[in-house]
Amino acid sequence: MSGLIVDSPEAKQLFTRASGLDGTGGDERLKRIVQRITTDLCRTVEEFDVTPTEFWTAVGYLTRLGQANEAGLLVAGSGVEHFLDLLVDEKERQAGLAGGTPRTIEGPLWLADAPLSKGEARLDQDPEQGTVLFMEGQVRDADGTPIPGAIVDVWHANTKGGYSHFDPLQSPYNLRRRIETDGDGRYRFRSILPSGYGCPPDGPTQELLNHLGRHGQRPAHIHFFVEAPGHRKLTTQINIAGDKFLHDDFAFATRDGLIPEVVRHGDPAEITQRGLNQPFMTIKFDFALNREAENLPEAVVLREHAKAA
Ligand code: BEZ
Ligand code: FE
Repeated sequence: MSGLIVDSPEAKQLFTRASGLDGTGGDERLKRIVQRITTDLCRTVEEFDVTPTEFWTAVGYLTRLGQANEAGLLVAGSGVEHFLDLLVDEKERQAGLAGGTPRTIEGPLWLADAPLSKGEARLDQDPEQGTVLFMEGQVRDADGTPIPGAIVDVWHANTKGGYSHFDPLQSPYNLRRRIETDGDGRYRFRSILPSGYGCPPDGPTQELLNHLGRHGQRPAHIHFFVEAPGHRKLTTQINIAGDKFLHDDFAFATRDGLIPEVVRHGDPAEITQRGLNQPFMTIKFDFALNREAENLPEAVVLREHAKAA
């Protein structure tokens, strides 16, 4: 016996009953998970001598977190979303999978059904004083064969770090597109360089981060889902090199292999050729998808998403 109340026969019976494990109905796996979480929570309360006032403060906090629709932010900021990536990486490694573009977190700001086009797209539809960005590359499988007809779903923030749909000042689907790769597996798009995202300063996620002595900032980044039949869906992001928060992302999403070179083009002839009147940036980035196979962890993750009106 540990001497802790949480390990007493009475507490154990309480957690068994509360999780439904003493009955026959319901989902056995869920029951065992609920029992574990309840027991671990109560162990933390007992071992840290959490006072009732502290406990109910936390309950109130979680209520406000849900009301503010920030659960997805806290999951990212707590590092748990990145941890889920580490788990899938390890399962894939054990299954002998290697060579694909690294995955990284999805985050809570994707929107379904972005406009679809073939080969290329322009993402920025709202007028903004941003630096023009041209990004292009190829989608290939792990042995280098181009994949025509792959879907590159791309989304990113504007120059203020805001995402359309969540930011009422942007038009629907601004900076969100789906691009079908051409016959050579190529995609390309024009957009503007994004700024990094910051948690709402008065929201519950930032409130907790303040108590932890942490900031709630992300480096500038561009999100991608890349999908093709017979291949594992890739969820990833690229980071914009040079950002102050590049290796200090509150959501822990920066990974080796996801920081392409950003090339600045200031030559007047090149600027004119592109129909612009200011220097612009280019990024080249190829995606490598692994083939789908049995006994691999799921690559298509089902989670609740915001829905366009
Ligand atoms: C983002 O992609 O910008 C993001 C990711 C995690 C939490 C909040 C925002
Ligand atoms: Fe983002």
